[in-house]
Amino acid sequence: MNADDALELIRSRRSTRRFLDKPLEDEKLEQIIEAGRYAPSGGNSQTTHFLVIRKKEVLRELADLVRQEFSKMEVTEGMYRSLAAAVRASRDESYVFHYSAPVLILVANRRSYCNNMADSSCALENMMIMANALDLGSCWINQVHWLTDNPVIREYLAGLGIPGEACVCGGLAVGYPDTADGLPDRRPLPRTGNPVSYID
Ligand SMILES: Cc1cc2nc3c(=O)[nH]c(=O)nc-3n(C[C@H](O)[C@H](O)[C@H](O)COP(=O)(O)O)c2cc1C
Repeated sequence: MNADDALELIRSRRSTRRFLDKPLEDEKLEQIIEAGRYAPSGGNSQTTHFLVIRKKEVLRELADLVRQEFSKMEVTEGMYRSLAAAVRASRDESYVFHYSAPVLILVANRRSYCNNMADSSCALENMMIMANALDLGSCWINQVHWLTDNPVIREYLAGLGIPGEACVCGGLAVGYPDTADGLPDRRPLPRTGNPVSYID
């Protein structure tokens, strides 16, 4: 194990929001899912469900439904900035919340489980790091999480195998980045927040 390589993989992970229309090899996808499944879980619960969507028709239908449901929402004062941005973006017909990535992995968990977000976040981060290791782009996608209680989205998710007692904690768009050199942009954003204090 090389600690420097591990830190470099973590530091150079960036969000990719432009993807090539190119399928992902099964082997690479399996490695990403394996990384997610090997994330730790509270009390070793292992209740995280990975719904891997590759079917173009489903990706399109979900994108349409998400746009439709977001466009019904109002931007309110004090609304979380990214949520407000998604609501505004949904007024444009061309809005596709998953950036037309070839794969969208929805990460769901039991609604009643107190560590549902924590476990799912561990899994999502593991998958993002693995995607980076494979020279792939990825981006955390929150729209289905925000709409997890929306009846239209709920019904559609139930048809995909996410039952009502589950909630979508997050999602991950994965694919080949649409960049000049074909590699993800790996320049880290400067850390100006995330303070650290030591008590020695
Ligand atoms: C909890 C969480 C939710 C996020 N939701 C979205 C999202 O819905 N859409 C998106 O484009 N990026 C989303 N992101 C990505 C962040 O915008 C991104 O991590 C941040 O701007 C820092 O950029 P970097 O990932 O390139 O370092 C999310 C990230 C996190 C951790």
